[in-house]
This record gives sequence, structure tokens and C-alpha cells, in this order.
Amino acid sequence: MPEVNLMDRYPRSNRPIDERAKLIDEEQRAVARRFGREFFDGDRLYGYGGYAYHPRFWTETVRRFRDYYRLAEDASILDVGCAKGFMLHDFLELLPRARVAGIDISSYAIENAKESVRHLVHVGDAKDLPYPDHAFDLVISINTVHNLELDDCKRAIREVQRVARKHAFITVDAWRNEEERDRMRKWNLTAKTYMHVDDWKRLFDEVGYTHEYYWFIP
Ligand SMILES: C[S@@+](CC[C@H](N)C(=O)[O-])C[C@H]1O[C@@H](n2cnc3c(N)ncnc32)[C@H](O)[C@@H]1O
Repeated sequence: MPEVNLMDRYPRSNRPIDERAKLIDEEQRAVARRFGREFFDGDRLYGYGGYAYHPRFWTETVRRFRDYYRLAEDASILDVGCAKGFMLHDFLELLPRARVAGIDISSYAIENAKESVRHLVHVGDAKDLPYPDHAFDLVISINTVHNLELDDCKRAIREVQRVARKHAFITVDAWRNEEERDRMRKWNLTAKTYMHVDDWKRLFDEVGYTHEYYWFIP
């Protein structure tokens, strides 16, 4: 069952979509797409408006992954687009013997990663993962591959497939109807490749991605 919402325990936030739409344009998008301090810890117009660890974000979601995939105590897990490594930290709280790794294009996020996982996360590009084939039991990539242009996005999805030994889970910006498409267009800061869920399913097929996926719909 490839389409499955494994993010259903992640807390939902109230997004001031119309308000933001009035304030953002290509200037804010250009700053956000540098994935520097402004995106993570700058003004809300450039991204998160403060990206700080809180256990309520990932604790339940990593349990959801463990239970869904029946992860072993010593499972190997890669997070592509790991940002400051918060999800990996919570994985290690749950599975202290797991072998976790993270990669992110943002040197700011990696330098400011949570101390417990700083030695496990590295700067790198999703479209060119520095790991051998089938290196991880589970590869997760949340809200990351849609930040690449279409051809590189396809490459990144192929890379997830390549380095996954057993399981993978990807979430991407998507919509199911016109109302959701309009909301996405107003909300989106960084994504370069986003489309209707049916088009994503065709794309996953085209690149030979066989694992799970779900949608980020603001
Ligand atoms: C919306 S954030 C999601 C972060 C984290 N996965 C989460 O869900 O909290 C997108 C992340 O993708 C990273 N990113 C963007 N382009 C990337 C690329 N080409 N390769 C790796 N990471 C990338 C950004 O630096 C950022 O940390």
C-alpha cells in the first residue's frame, strides 16, 4: 500500500495562508531557498520563524514509523533533508541501538543540529546521496525532494529508492483539488516541483519508486 499517511500523529498547525500570501513574493522565496539562518530561525516570512526542538513534534511519529515498518532495535535509518536532526534524535530516544544518519543541503542546519546527533548528520544533496546501494533499512524524506527542479527531484527520488534496503517513505507538496492547489500556491515558499497527487503517483511510477509516500497539503 504505497499511499499511507505515516505523518498522521504529527501535530497540525493553523496556517495563516491568506495573510502570508499578501506578504510573500519572489524576494522572500529567493531568501528561503538558500536554506540559511533566515529560513530556519529568521522572520516567519522566510520560513519556519524559529526551528527549535520540541518532543511533541516527532515522538509519536517515530513510534508510528517503528510500528508500521516493525523496525528492529538496531535498524539503520537515513533522513534525507534532516534539517537540525530532530527526528533522528527522537529515533535514537526510541531505538538507542539504531544506526541513524542524516543529510541536508543546509550547512546552517547541520552546524546547528541537535547536539546528540550532530556527529551523525552531514551537508549533502538529495540528488546525489553519498551512500552505497541498499545501505539503510529505512530511508525517510519529508518535505524535501519537492525543493528540487523536476529533473533533480526525479533523481532524488531514484536515490531514495537506491539506498533503501527494505523501506522508504517520502512526503511532497501536493493537492487533490483546485481549492488545495490555490492554498498551496499561496503558502509555498521553497518548492519548485509540486503537483496534483495523481501526477505525483505517475512520477513515482516513472522513476521506479516502489515504497510509501504521502502528501503535504497546507
Ligand atoms: C521543509 S524543510 C523539512 C525539514 C525536515 N525534513 C522536517 O520535516 O522538519 C526542507 C529541508 O530540505 C532541505 N533541502 C532542500 N533542498 C535539499 C537538497 N537538494 N538536498 C538535501 N536537502 C535539501 C532544506 O535545507 C530543509 O532542511
